[in-house]
Formats: sequence, C-alpha cells, structure tokens
Amino acid sequence: MLKKRDVVRRVLQGRPVRASPEGTAFAPANIALCKYWGKRDEELNLPVTSSLSVSLGSLGSRVSLTLAEGADVVELNGTVLGADTPFTKRATAFLDLFRPDPSARFRLSAENTIPTAAGFASSASGFAALVLALDRLFGWGLDRKSLSILARLGSGSACRSVHEGFVEWHAGQAADGMDSCAERLDATWPDLRMGLLVVSDEEKSIGSRPAMKHTVETSPLYTAWPAKVEKDLAALKDAIRRRDFPMLGRTAESNALAMHATMIAAWPPVLYWLPDSVHAMQRIRALRDKELELYFTMDAGPNLKLLFEEKDTDAVTQAFPEVEVVAPFANP
Ligand code: PMV
Repeated sequence: MLKKRDVVRRVLQGRPVRASPEGTAFAPANIALCKYWGKRDEELNLPVTSSLSVSLGSLGSRVSLTLAEGADVVELNGTVLGADTPFTKRATAFLDLFRPDPSARFRLSAENTIPTAAGFASSASGFAALVLALDRLFGWGLDRKSLSILARLGSGSACRSVHEGFVEWHAGQAADGMDSCAERLDATWPDLRMGLLVVSDEEKSIGSRPAMKHTVETSPLYTAWPAKVEKDLAALKDAIRRRDFPMLGRTAESNALAMHATMIAAWPPVLYWLPDSVHAMQRIRALRDKELELYFTMDAGPNLKLLFEEKDTDAVTQAFPEVEVVAPFANP
C-alpha cells in the first residue's frame, strides 16, 4: 500500500527548492454538481468515480505560509488556534509531508471568505490554497495536474479547487493516483447563479470522511452509484455545452438526492436532513411547479445550494430572503 509520503516524493522528484520568505495563495471553494462519494483508496483519497464541480469565484480560502522556529503556529481568520484543535491537527499532519527537514516548522495563516461558521465546507479551498502556497514558498513551479494531486492528499474534493469554473475530477485507475486529478472544462456560464441557503450552522453529526466509508461498507444502494454518476456526468457535460439550464439543474438535483439515498440506506443510517432542509426542498419543488427554474444540490450536511439563472434572481431572493447569491463566472 502506497502512503501519501510516497506520492509526494514522486510529484516533487527532481524539483529544485528555492525557498522564499513567504508563500501566499487563494483557492476558490467548489460545489459538486455530480458528487464524489466513495473511495477506492482511503489513504490517497482515490475516488470510486469521477465528479464534476463549479468553483465559487471569490469565495474560498487565502493561505499564507512562512517557515518558523520552535513550533508550528496555525491561525484561522485572525485567531491563533490551539495545537489540539481538529483544524490545527489536520493542517500540521498535512504539513508533515512537506517539511524540508524533520525539525522545520511553519507559520500558517488561513482566511476564509466562504462563511465557515455558516456550515459550508472550506476544507476543499483550504487544502488547495495550502498546496498553492507551499508551491510558492518552495518555488517548485508545479503544473496544475501535480498541484491537484497534492491537494487531493489533503481532502479529495480539494483537487478540484486548484481550478476556476467547471471542473472535472477524473477518477483515474493507477494505484499511485497519478492519473486521479482535476481538469478545468473549457466552458463558462456567466448567467449561472448559486444560492447558499443555511439551514443549520451547527457542527454536523458525522463528517463526510466517515460517512462516505460507512456508506460504501454498509449501504445496499451503493452498488447503483457508479452507473448513476456515469449517466449524470455525461448529461451535465452536455447541458454545459448546450447551456441547457433545466437539464443542468435536474441532473445536479437528482445526483445529490441519489447520493443522500445511498447514505440513508446505510446501517445505521446517515441522515443529514433537518426538517428545514426538507421544507426548503418542498418549496423549491412548489416554485418549480409554478414555472420557476430553480433546483438545488446538497453535500454532507443539512444546507442547500440553490441553482438558478441570473434572470430569476429576484424571484429566488423573494422566496428565500436569507440566501447568499454567488455568481461563479462573474469575473471570467
Ligand atoms: O473532500 P471531502 O472528503 O470533504 O468529501 C466531499 C464530499 C462531498 O462534498 C459530499 C461531495 C463532493 O464531491 O464535494
């Protein structure tokens, strides 16, 4: 079994190290329209299927990194975190893979422009920004493919956050994952809008990592998932090519619901939905019945991400005044 460290060695082989005083980088958050759900390799975060996302423009993470003396220091949104917080532990374990010598220490400062407190995952943008910052700090000059592979080692979905716009993560087949990386689709959709709808900002009962593993191991519906993804990926790429919004929305919503169905059928079940999540789903359905082209997607949590087009922004914000509207292609 290959370890993360072996992959890092392969990616950085022969790279010169020209350390600069600081490496700073931004990476956008991304929301999958066709989800990544299930790993074929737990250590390297290699997925069972490919997936497709849209990056959230200026919403994401900015990371600054310097080499430090004594101990690692991890700061999030202006506050230095304790060494035993989950955020610090995850960040320093990842940094362990890149220390130029075992005694080297880092000062990492991360700022999220995506509302973390509002329950939207920032680990994808965080790990992608961290890898980009490492590349700048050490002057590796890696290409996007290599950056995507390294970001995946932090969190699977992070491999998509090294790109803007529509992004496909190719599952790949190689045991070392050198072909499992994200690629930007040559397409834009200026009128596409996403609405972040917070149902609950409480810490979720079970993280996506254990939930994914538990679903693969116990859900009888999981065997149907790869075929569903194959169909949805083709439909989404077609919808993007033809700018067919109803097809994009329908496919994304159906894909998210199918992912949740696999979790609900696990034992014990994983049910992220709260009564307000279901209420929002039903309102979206009722609005659609009144000819409003509004769809949603959901990740491993109770919050919804609404999908609509620019022309319907007023109708959507009237129905959901609390929604935060994002224009993923506002600054192409
Ligand atoms: O990258 P992870 O381990 O946080 O998993 C992300 C899983 C989903 O958000 C549910 C789906 C996806 O493709 O982003």
